[in-house]
Amino acid sequence: MDGTATLRHRNATFWANAAPGWIRHADRQDDIGRPLGAVGMHRLAPQPAERVLDVGCGCGGTTADIAAAVGADGAVVGIDLADGMVVTARERFPADRYPGIRFQAADIETLDVVPGAPFDAAFSRMTLMLLADPVAGCATIRRALRPGGRLVATVFRDGGANPWLPAALLGAAPHVGALPPLPVGDEPGPFSFADPTRLDRVLTAAGFVNVTIEPHDVTMNAPDEADVVAEWLIEIGPAGAAYRAAPPANQANARAGAARLLERFRAPGTGYRLPAGIWLVTAATPAQDVRA
Ligand SMILES: C[S@@+](CC[C@H](N)C(=O)[O-])C[C@H]1O[C@@H](n2cnc3c(N)ncnc32)[C@H](O)[C@@H]1O
Repeated sequence: MDGTATLRHRNATFWANAAPGWIRHADRQDDIGRPLGAVGMHRLAPQPAERVLDVGCGCGGTTADIAAAVGADGAVVGIDLADGMVVTARERFPADRYPGIRFQAADIETLDVVPGAPFDAAFSRMTLMLLADPVAGCATIRRALRPGGRLVATVFRDGGANPWLPAALLGAAPHVGALPPLPVGDEPGPFSFADPTRLDRVLTAAGFVNVTIEPHDVTMNAPDEADVVAEWLIEIGPAGAAYRAAPPANQANARAGAARLLERFRAPGTGYRLPAGIWLVTAATPAQDVRA
């Protein structure tokens, strides 16, 4: 396997193993995680009758929000690598209650034709930085858009701007088994687009124009339930699969370890305020798209 093939294989395994945690916490993720995409959804401003692609849709919460905005005359397709999440998304947001919604399990990097294309717009919350070959993935998105179509995405900035993420991982790790390999350099991972010039380079290489990248600082508000918050953040992170495989006593220690490191974000009696630093990315396809 070459480097990209190895990373793709690693990603597919990672997300298949992560899926049970994302499924278990899907409602919490939609609710508490909403600020991670809200500025993007606002900028996307999906209009009635538009056709929109949601890349890395997870368990479908953002896809359903877009479906509500585009209405019965529009269409929205949610694509995700993890079969289990796509199955859950279909169950949570069935087409008879969300007309025009469709979910498809696929790797955006290797899809030749995206079902439902061409789209007026593409949206992605917290996925582009996780692609093994982000130029290939973004080129698929660009090809799926009509000429003059728009892309709006959010991705994490650096770890320092998102301290809850390493806190949950470091707190849990000593109590569970082996973790998946941590990303090195530009390998896919939460902070692989910390440098906005790389993000700009990737989108430009994928054929997008008018790229804008803005920093936003948002806050995720979680209830004052230390055990629940710790488990949610462990299970959606790299320690999730090892946590689920661990004996109950180790799981309890992992939650306690994460809760200790998350304590500084807690106002007792009020809840957690988890600071998140994101890039809001916008781009367009050329009005006359002649590139393959
Ligand atoms: C951090 S999660 C975000 C999920 C959802 N957008 C949210 O904000 O709740 C990243 C998602 O991207 C998906 N993903 C990762 N690589 C992908 C790829 N190459 N093609 C499609 N989906 C991918 C994962 O399966 C996962 O559901």
